[in-house]
Amino acid sequence: MKILAFESSCDETAAAVVEDGRTVLSSVIASSADMHAVYGGVVPEIASRKHVEAISGLAEEALRQAGVRRTDIDAVAVTYAPGLIGALLVGVSFAKSAAYALGVPLIPVHHVRGHIAANYIAHPDLEPPFLCLCVSGGTTALVDVQAYTRFQVLGGTRDDAAGECFDKTARVLGLGYPGGGPMDRMAKGGNDRAYVFPRAHIDGNPLDMSFSGLKTAVLNVIHHAEQKGETLNLPDLAASFAAAISDSLIPRVMEANQITGYNKIAVAGGVAANSRIRADLERACAKVGAKLWLPPLSLCGDNAAMIGCQGYYEYLAGHTAGWDLNARASLDISKA
Ligand code: KG4
Repeated sequence: MKILAFESSCDETAAAVVEDGRTVLSSVIASSADMHAVYGGVVPEIASRKHVEAISGLAEEALRQAGVRRTDIDAVAVTYAPGLIGALLVGVSFAKSAAYALGVPLIPVHHVRGHIAANYIAHPDLEPPFLCLCVSGGTTALVDVQAYTRFQVLGGTRDDAAGECFDKTARVLGLGYPGGGPMDRMAKGGNDRAYVFPRAHIDGNPLDMSFSGLKTAVLNVIHHAEQKGETLNLPDLAASFAAAISDSLIPRVMEANQITGYNKIAVAGGVAANSRIRADLERACAKVGAKLWLPPLSLCGDNAAMIGCQGYYEYLAGHTAGWDLNARASLDISKA
């Protein structure tokens, strides 16, 4: 089954052709990140306009690179939630038109389900159930992947996502947007104990997290240094910051692993590219003999291949949409 898939939830417009869920025939991405960089974060209206400009060309390019004709497409999948509403609507509207014109089913896909599915593309042996740490610019959650289309959130951030924290810190340091990659590179060789940053604990659910205090703490250090005319050791700062994020995530992942008893852990989303988090997880999993699946860096960020992959499993579960499909800015992964 060949699925033409679209993703437009934030600042990446993407199209892909995926066969039977796990074989990517093509995957093309156009990013408007450089246009947002000057503002230090995504400007929703600019993102929407760029999606409109890019999406039909990308659809053609995805078909061309896959070597298939329009009539070879069996279904169209699209990210419909969560994300920037204007950005999502571009993808949803285009996908609806494409499915209608081709006379094939329309499959709605939850963005974070897609991020999790990126692991199926990279790792043919991975099958539910497993535990997935989902960490991106908008999400930080521990998800029990009980089946391809059945999910339960075990814990998550009560405020900022980990990626948002990287991005805001990077913005204040003048590293541009998105800031996670530059912060990661800056941390290389830095002393991760040079700066003391908080690791929050949430009463009530030990698997929940909070990153807003960490964000405030690091911004305070930067502003105080500016006011006093002191020079910060940037590699030390970045390494200490990454350590605080990782120390908030990894023990909770391991606790959730104990609760589920799967001993199978995957990671998903843009922040899954972080070298400190990857290394800490590898160490923690090796210690308890848990199997770990990390997505390749190319599949960590937003792409449409992951939407085509999850779309296949949604289709098998009978989850298709009518022409009244609407986009949703927020939606629980378990309710999609
Ligand atoms: O998954 P993604 O492309 O978009 C969302 O669905 O949100 O994730 C983007 C996020 C941004 O916050 C970006 O700064 C972060 O992933 N990111 C990283 C790294 N590479 C990207 N964060 C930490 N370390 C990285 N190496």
